[in-house]
Amino acid sequence: MTQDPARGTAQDGTPVSIVTGGATGIGGAISRALATRGDHVVLNDIDVTAAAETATAIRTDGGSCTVVEGDVTDDGVVAAVVEAAVAVRGVVDHLVNNVGDFRPASRDFAHSTPAQWQRLYELNLRHVLAMSHAVLPYVVAGSSIVNVSTVEAFRGIPASAPYSAFKAGVAAFTKSLAVELGPRGVRVNAIAPDLTDTAQTSRAAMLRGRDEELVPLWLPLGRFAEAEDHARVVTFLTSDDARFVTGHTIPVDGGTLAASGWYRRHDGKGWTNMPDRP
Ligand SMILES: NC(=O)c1ccc[n+]([C@@H]2O[C@H](COP(=O)([O-])OP(=O)(O)OC[C@H]3O[C@@H](n4cnc5c(N)ncnc54)[C@H](O)[C@@H]3O)[C@@H](O)[C@H]2O)c1
Repeated sequence: MTQDPARGTAQDGTPVSIVTGGATGIGGAISRALATRGDHVVLNDIDVTAAAETATAIRTDGGSCTVVEGDVTDDGVVAAVVEAAVAVRGVVDHLVNNVGDFRPASRDFAHSTPAQWQRLYELNLRHVLAMSHAVLPYVVAGSSIVNVSTVEAFRGIPASAPYSAFKAGVAAFTKSLAVELGPRGVRVNAIAPDLTDTAQTSRAAMLRGRDEELVPLWLPLGRFAEAEDHARVVTFLTSDDARFVTGHTIPVDGGTLAASGWYRRHDGKGWTNMPDRP
């Protein structure tokens, strides 16, 4: 774990925002969006090359950032990330706990192992607690935390029961911490993405042998998500526009949770909850 020597040049009053897993995918879009807004972004990522590329892109666009490489499930990395953020202005304005993964996955729960449950816990819930705990001495009135859960915290998913359990834990933690931190003027929210084209769940893998033209039938808004769709909501949640919003997990899912198993019929004649053939 190392820190990028090219430290950012945040000026007094510049919001300092931490984004874990901030190099690519949803986290990458969030890092870029917050930097574009003017925040100094402390970007943590395990992928050294990708983190350097995103940092370069941010600086090229006129933004400022500090890179802290390393695995956020390591408490030493958590401490280094917070130290880097506090070095800028002495406070942490916003924390985005983005890292999470449905892997290591198993065929079904019967084939899963305690070692897999442990790693899924570390990747999806434990570091959310560790990072939030570590920033507590440095958050101030107006600060916020945004966690990244999933729609599968609210809807069942086969072959990923431990992942969904830990992500449901993220949503529950979000509510309880929001209650605790409310009197300090600190808000805590989460987003619950679905079907986003990232390296973890690429559009190609999601479609895998399926007819691309069926996508508009599966989601009410008719398309898969882009990482930027989530970045926009996180930008809102970490802004003063959301100053009275706390304790919520907002689905950013194109309507899949609302539809909850309902699909548009292929013949265009209404909807079905029993998918039919073309
Ligand atoms: N993509 C989706 O459709 C989807 C759906 C629901 C929830 N989510 C959640 O959104 C979040 C981001 O997902 P994504 O699809 O962008 O993921 P991704 O795997 O495509 O990208 C994750 C980023 O985090 C970094 N990273 C991974 N493990 C890390 C670690 N231990 N420490 C530091 N950095 C690490 C990666 O290098 C990468 O830059 C996750 O919490 C995921 O569970 C995603």
